[in-house]
Amino acid sequence: MTDFNPNETVKAAGGGAAMRKVFVKTYGCQMNVYDSQRMSDALSGEGFVPTETIEDADLVLLNTCHIREKAAEKIYSELGRIRDMKAERAERGLGTQVAVAGCVAQAEGQEIIDRASVVDLVIGPQTYHRLPHALKRVEAGEKVVEIDYAVEDKFEALPNAPKKAIANRGVTAFLTVQEGCDKFCTFCVVPYTRGAEVSRSFLQILGEAKRLVDAGVREITLLGQNVNAWDGEDEAGQPIGLGGLLHRLAAIAGLKRLRYTTSHPRDMDDELIAAHRDLPQLMPYLHLPVQSGSDSILKAMNRRHTGEQYLRLLDRIRAARPDIALSGDFIVGFPGESDADFEDTMRMVETVGYASAFSFKYSPRPGTPGAEMDGHVSEAVKDERLQRLQALLRRQQVSFAEGLVGELLDVLIEKPGRHAGQLVGRSPYLQPVVLPETAGAIGDVIPATIHSAVANSLVAVGALMPDLNAAPRPSPVARTLA
Ligand code: SAH
Ligand code: SF4
Ligand code: F3S
Repeated sequence: MTDFNPNETVKAAGGGAAMRKVFVKTYGCQMNVYDSQRMSDALSGEGFVPTETIEDADLVLLNTCHIREKAAEKIYSELGRIRDMKAERAERGLGTQVAVAGCVAQAEGQEIIDRASVVDLVIGPQTYHRLPHALKRVEAGEKVVEIDYAVEDKFEALPNAPKKAIANRGVTAFLTVQEGCDKFCTFCVVPYTRGAEVSRSFLQILGEAKRLVDAGVREITLLGQNVNAWDGEDEAGQPIGLGGLLHRLAAIAGLKRLRYTTSHPRDMDDELIAAHRDLPQLMPYLHLPVQSGSDSILKAMNRRHTGEQYLRLLDRIRAARPDIALSGDFIVGFPGESDADFEDTMRMVETVGYASAFSFKYSPRPGTPGAEMDGHVSEAVKDERLQRLQALLRRQQVSFAEGLVGELLDVLIEKPGRHAGQLVGRSPYLQPVVLPETAGAIGDVIPATIHSAVANSLVAVGALMPDLNAAPRPSPVARTLA
């Protein structure tokens, strides 16, 4: 099987046939990043090599996000550009296949081809293992829409990543353990695009984690739309939850760090909270979205807990792991949100003190109950609330980072820095840390004293100061949702 090292010459399957190139663009959440990797692995088995240059691509694959209107609309403007590019390539006698995967594919299906005829294939998240077969149908001249939920196990059917492909992706990796959502928050499309909650089996996850570590991965982030709803059975057939799974994974020799995202407050059970106390490998950072601080809005959102219950839950988590850094998601301007409701959200943020957080203006999504509700909030009010909330969250993020100056933190070294003489790693709290190159090797966890906090990074003692004018390097872990 060929692999995905762009620096290597890879022979296409079938010997002598021209090598085909695929350009993959990923939108949305970490699960899409993971899915893109698995699709790339499946395509490498078909003789495709990756390209970063869209004009060179025989296959363009957009892995899309449907969470907010803007995210979905971006795809159509991108498809407009791809149409022009396909026409230019055709003038040079080159064919181009265009595939749309991800949550827009699942939500809109055939509509995508009706609206953008450049598209040859629409494939939903539950059918990625059928991608090679679907592409063969496209080659035979068909337009293909694959969005039925497959009965077979997608993860069983997808090929394992080649060891070199894993190594090329670095020392941190994502691993999907759970997919789908049964919570039906009234603003959210995910239960419709990703389907019902399904947990991957313990043995499948353990096998994949071991393969990752064997290829050099030192930190694994377990992924799920509701990752803490994961359940399964251990080797002895005993039922376990995410806490139990983390215990088993922490026993893998060479795996230095574990994280998980995204959790729902209702699924934080005692076993999982205890894992934060008991497992040194489990990083003291938790993304636990609350969305709003107002009980009436939480009710209208169908979050099924109150603000007070969320705060009591945080007390229990902090009792287990006092240095835990918290992150969250917030929506402003949900239908019916009054000034007083919004002030409750501001108060909630003041009370909790977040290390980082994402916040969004409510975007009505077709087919969700929220879109049909009364009391939609004007854009101007949403804008104003978002600005105030983001300013507060930003202040908290800065003060959290500044509070670490002078501290000795464990840093996982991830990659070379932007400048000669620098390395970049990550703190336990997910912040990038700039280090001197003498600090250690990529994959090491080393203690570093923090000298200063600049922009979104920490700078360790002895490191060259980062160039704040240089373009930021995209980081899959700290990725903002589109
Ligand atoms: N499963 C995760 C979140 C998935 S979506 C969870 O339950 O926390 C990521 C975030 O996008 C959500 O937490 C929410 O804050 C935001 N979001 C989802 N739907 C939205 C909408 N219609 N408008 C604005 N923000 C939305
Ligand atoms: Fe969406 Fe709510 Fe499910 Fe999260 S828990 S994916 S916000 S429906
Ligand atoms: Fe992720 Fe966006 Fe789908 S956030 S689950 S890619 S709608």
